[in-house]
Amino acid sequence: MLWLKAFHIFFVVSWFAGLFYLPRIFVNLAMVPAENTAERDRLLLMARKLYKFVTPIEGLAIITGLWLWFGYGFSGGWLHLKTALVVGLVVYHHYCGRVLKRFLAGENARTHVWFRFFNEVPVFFLLAVCILVVVKPF
Ligand code: HEM
Repeated sequence: MLWLKAFHIFFVVSWFAGLFYLPRIFVNLAMVPAENTAERDRLLLMARKLYKFVTPIEGLAIITGLWLWFGYGFSGGWLHLKTALVVGLVVYHHYCGRVLKRFLAGENARTHVWFRFFNEVPVFFLLAVCILVVVKPF
């Protein structure tokens, strides 16, 4: 079980690297002047590669979590709330995919200020999930 948990934490950390960095690229993309196509294309390439890389890792973080849950008999309200928060993270992740599509189509209407707030959302999810899984308050 400890090997599985080690891989679970590894995939979770890698997933969060993407959840923290991708919206940061959106902040920069929203600030690029329209005429600076070279900078825009460079940022779009980074965002596309990062999204493509981190999406399977999202799956592995969830699969190893569910394996821990159902394979080793974990239970408790903490796990249900944790899973609900993870569903929120999955929605956030795939919303980033939609935002990326809009940037690729040149149709983004959000400001860099909006993306700066958007970028902070995963921080609160991470804090809540870590408290739930380590402290198991209920
Ligand atoms: C559906 C998705 C997930 C499920 C079902 C799940 C389930 C679990 C279970 C059963 C454990 C073992 C708990 C223990 O050993 O006490 C665990 C460990 C852990 N999970 Fe998840 N997890 C999921 C996703 C995540 C995500 C997204 C994060 C991070 C935000 C996360 C962070 C952790 C951490 C840090 C541990 C190690 C806790 C410890 O060793 O005390 N998990 N997870």
